[in-house]
Amino acid sequence: MTRTATDIMEAEHVFILKVVAVMVSLEDRVGKGFDVDPDTLRSIVEFLRIYADRCHHGKEEVYLFTFLQKKGVPLTGCPLGALLHEHKIGREWVGKFAEAIEGYAKDRSGGRGALQESMKALAALYPNHIWKEDYLLSPMANKLLSGSEQEGLRNTFEDAERELGSELHRKWERFAVELEGKTGNPV
Ligand SMILES: [Fe+2]
Ligand SMILES: [Fe+2]
Repeated sequence: MTRTATDIMEAEHVFILKVVAVMVSLEDRVGKGFDVDPDTLRSIVEFLRIYADRCHHGKEEVYLFTFLQKKGVPLTGCPLGALLHEHKIGREWVGKFAEAIEGYAKDRSGGRGALQESMKALAALYPNHIWKEDYLLSPMANKLLSGSEQEGLRNTFEDAERELGSELHRKWERFAVELEGKTGNPV
């Protein structure tokens, strides 16, 4: 069966949740005083910036939310305004996480608190955000969009990915699966 535009969004959420689950276990390790490789944490920042934000949130904000707005969904309030706000908060926490990693790389005990704070914030934000999209946004979009509109939107998503580089998209999906495998954190 052909995947709809909302199916694509939901499938991408699975990869984001895999990486978030790894973050939860790494935060736990940091809290227990185990050493966590800063390069692993830096690669998570890259995943969140490229795959979750530029590719995924980009498609949501530029195409899906805009299309829904044209169908009469207000861009302020619930759900679109709330989701856009969470994208912004997520970007801010990813920035803090990136800074905290460098602090932790220089000073394990002194940098632990800020690192844990940013990891906990992101681990709380993403699953909650994705839940709203899977259970509120997608059903609403499925109700509002016709089959041909879903198809048009899916083609737009594919064009957007080609522009960013399809290989880039696949590379970060492989990263999520490999990271999950390495750290033994199946979702
Ligand atoms: Fe989102
Ligand atoms: Fe999403």
